[in-house]
Amino acid sequence: RKVMTIAGLKEKKAAGEPLTMLTAYDFPTAQIEDELGIDMILCGDSLGMTVYGYTGTISVTMEQMLLHAEAVKRGAPHSFVIGDMPFLSYQVSVEEAILNAGRLMKEARVDGIKLEGGREMADRVRAITKAGIPVMGHIGLTPQSVSALGGFRAQGRDLSGAVRLIEDAKILEEAGAFALVLEAIPEQLGELITGQVDIPTIGIGAGAYTDGQVLVVHDALGFFGGHVAKFVKQYANLNQVMKDGLRAYMDDVAGRKFPAAEHCYGMSNEVLAQIKE
Ligand code: KIV
Ligand code: NA
Repeated sequence: RKVMTIAGLKEKKAAGEPLTMLTAYDFPTAQIEDELGIDMILCGDSLGMTVYGYTGTISVTMEQMLLHAEAVKRGAPHSFVIGDMPFLSYQVSVEEAILNAGRLMKEARVDGIKLEGGREMADRVRAITKAGIPVMGHIGLTPQSVSALGGFRAQGRDLSGAVRLIEDAKILEEAGAFALVLEAIPEQLGELITGQVDIPTIGIGAGAYTDGQVLVVHDALGFFGGHVAKFVKQYANLNQVMKDGLRAYMDDVAGRKFPAAEHCYGMSNEVLAQIKE
């Protein structure tokens, strides 16, 4: 399989082929996605929720992102791996933003980074890109601003919000972003933005007309038993699969059915007799 590059992503878009993207936070999941030929893998700060059990992404640290992104890239040598910039790793200054983006590339070996925000982040997108680090933008519902946005809710449904998002998309493209995530916006707005920028748009809850789609892998596989967002389609019920498998193990142990002979190491009778002497 060929290694995916920004040029490869552009070629796919030009050919009208949808771009596929999923999150991953660990080596085995990344390996499965890479083997399947996924175009892009995002080690998202959604790991705050999916891996660490926080209620949001605010508490996620650079150290957590570095460790998980490194494991993901090790498992995915072919897919284009993107490391998410956690809250406060790029908001304070352009200098800090370059240094932290650089850490994701130098230490975790990712192929690019993603950060949230529109026009207010244009200087950072430009500076990080100039440093040689590809930047993916992320507008619409930006979970690191969930408090300011008033909750996890769809964005750009009114005139001023929609116009602002279209402008933000163009500004981020102009600043050098290689692609844009559009999260939780009306399908019509996803289509409009996709038509007004040349870089690929990757939707999550942004309708069917973006250049690609991304889902949180735990959502796509039904890892959690509870509620999932409207924009999620569950392709498996991993929660049930895991419960069934682990219950069978527990029943086997309780019923002395595990381990069986084939799971046990042996020893020669001669050695055994000598021990018992
Ligand atoms: O952290 C994440 O998983 C994301 C995607 C939902 C785009 O930012
Ligand atoms: Na994220």
